[in-house]
Amino acid sequence: MTYRDIYEGWKADPEAFWMQAATAIDWTRPPSRAFTDTGPAGEWFADAMGNTCWNAVDRHVEAGHGDRLAIIHDSPISGSVHKLTYAQLQARVASLAGALRARGIAPGDTVIIYMPMVPEALEAMLACARLGAIHSVVFGGFAAHELAVRIDDARPKAIIAASCGLEPGRVVHYKPLLDRAIDEARHKPDFCVIFQREQEVAALIPGRDLDWHGFQAGVAPADCVPVAGNHPAYVLYTSGTTGQPKGVVRHTAGHMVALAWSMRHIYDIGAGDVFWAASDVGWVVGHSYICYGPLLAGATTIVFEGKPVGTPDAGTFWRVIAEHGVSSFFTAPTAIRAVRRDDPEGALICDHDISGLKALFLAGERADPDTVAWAAEKLGVPVIDHWWQTETGWAIAANPLGVELLPQKKGSPSVAMPGYDVQVLDETGEPVPPGTLGAIAIRLPLPPGTLPTLWNAEDRFRKAYLSHFPGFYETGDAGYVDEDGYLYIMARTDDVINVAGHRLSTGAMEEVLAAHPAVAECAVIGVSDPLKGQAPLGLLCLKKGVETPHEQIIAEVVRMVRDQIGPVAAFKSACIVERLPKTRSGKILRATMCKIADGEEVKTPATIDDPVILDEVGAALRRIGLGRREEADNPQA
Ligand code: COA
Ligand code: AMP
Repeated sequence: MTYRDIYEGWKADPEAFWMQAATAIDWTRPPSRAFTDTGPAGEWFADAMGNTCWNAVDRHVEAGHGDRLAIIHDSPISGSVHKLTYAQLQARVASLAGALRARGIAPGDTVIIYMPMVPEALEAMLACARLGAIHSVVFGGFAAHELAVRIDDARPKAIIAASCGLEPGRVVHYKPLLDRAIDEARHKPDFCVIFQREQEVAALIPGRDLDWHGFQAGVAPADCVPVAGNHPAYVLYTSGTTGQPKGVVRHTAGHMVALAWSMRHIYDIGAGDVFWAASDVGWVVGHSYICYGPLLAGATTIVFEGKPVGTPDAGTFWRVIAEHGVSSFFTAPTAIRAVRRDDPEGALICDHDISGLKALFLAGERADPDTVAWAAEKLGVPVIDHWWQTETGWAIAANPLGVELLPQKKGSPSVAMPGYDVQVLDETGEPVPPGTLGAIAIRLPLPPGTLPTLWNAEDRFRKAYLSHFPGFYETGDAGYVDEDGYLYIMARTDDVINVAGHRLSTGAMEEVLAAHPAVAECAVIGVSDPLKGQAPLGLLCLKKGVETPHEQIIAEVVRMVRDQIGPVAAFKSACIVERLPKTRSGKILRATMCKIADGEEVKTPATIDDPVILDEVGAALRRIGLGRREEADNPQA
């Protein structure tokens, strides 16, 4: 079967296509139908009963593959490698689930997981899945306030955390962050489970905190609890346009079916293969392709606690691929740019035998053709850009290696996957001709595995995704499609920026800056960055009469963003401007300022209130070394 056969087959009969895909999963009650028109955007396999942990762990043991490796934890930061077989994973997860159940965790309860890249993070996710509890993993690079916001929204009965995370050269003290977050949050969990790492033993709060090992002692292990197909498997918060993150809900059955399909058809991974997604469990890539996808496929997944460079060098990726026999590798373009910057000739690749590698997959941000070409040349394998979002949970567009490698086109993540009818629309919702830029939308219904709603926020779900283009899901990305159906993803249409493959809200940063006593008004924009793709930049208008030195104000706002959102925001620079450019209706012209900062040609927007402000902003940006290209290209400017 070719890609075209498969895609057309899905289009001709989506119901039959997904019912067939569902046979890859063990059900306690198989679905009687694939799609039901319930909820705001429909649901998949709603009447099936099954359990994700059973499918990801137990069934492989039952089938006689208990000795196969499930997880390899490779931590160049702590200098250790640990391996867990499926049988060992099953025993550990059942024991943890038993202890959680003994403390009252039942199907439908929410549990927040705040852990670094250790196997115990996956065990915690799987233990929740085993009980039908809904987990919400919070990325370790967020500060206490962001954790508190998520605690108040998810209202967890329990929080499972580690004592610390490890970043190069520093220990991230998770426990004080957790304590501060619980203090700040209005909602309080019944209890916390703390996994003590040898790098830091945290003080436990009596009556609230339980030791990971201690609380499991003497408790009976738990079996898998079957749940309905539309039972939420997890909630994962992602950045929207405001400081309040969106809780993306993932339903159990569609999640399993879509991931199982994608492992085979997109990543070409089956039982016994070794798959590595170098991301973090706190992001959607970590959920889909560090934890659930590879385990559903019966493959071995790598949990990597390190960085592409500096742990210890730009050869780390190649060492891990060679040492553990990785056949498909997934990372963000930023990581490859970092490797290339340190090892431009790819000399360190030659130190390792990476002949088992079949392909490199890139996602999370736009893959610039230069980086793709470099990796393809140095690695000698296809480099496959694919496009998706936290909301979709798996690729919207990809080159389906497991079906056939389609001809690759520069700058394109290739073609729509089955289930996705992708359209490029103009402002009025009409499809635009090939080659014309527009808003990218997906005709409803979305396929299995994608979000059915937002946690406790159905109205927001409708407003954010379904209302702009009736009958479609609005992706928030702009781009175009060519004559052959290849997609090109060019930019976001909202105020979300992408820094080192991390999705961040400029609105959230603006809320922090606006709280500085000297700041009257502010805007945050994403300026082009050669390593991270984009970097946030704050533009601050000060209150009248403020005499504090500008450098001091800038240092203070940088500190505030780090303290309140977290180091992952990578907010390092700001500049003071007299006024911000706005439309006559008062909307700040962020996109125009972005273009000025990036040195692009700027057409003064027709709706601008006072065009002179653009010159003022241009001058302020030039003073901090931005927008230079425009000046050089146009000496008159
Ligand atoms: N816990 C605590 N802090 C974290 C963290 C975590 N899990 N992850 C990142 N941080 C911190 C970093 O230590 C850094 O802190 P610093 O300001 O004190 O240096 C800050 O957050 C910014 O991190 P990052 O943007 O990742 O920059 P970096 O300079 O540490 O590393 C790269 C640059 C390119 C090596 C790194 O961004 C990278 O590996 N990117 C790939 C991203 C990726 O996999 N994304 C997932 C989508 S697929
Ligand atoms: P996240 O939800 O964090 O996965 O971020 C999703 C967003 O990242 C998308 O909406 C895009 O803006 C961007 N993105 C992800 N993958 C790609 C890609 N392959 N090409 C271009 N942009 C991408």
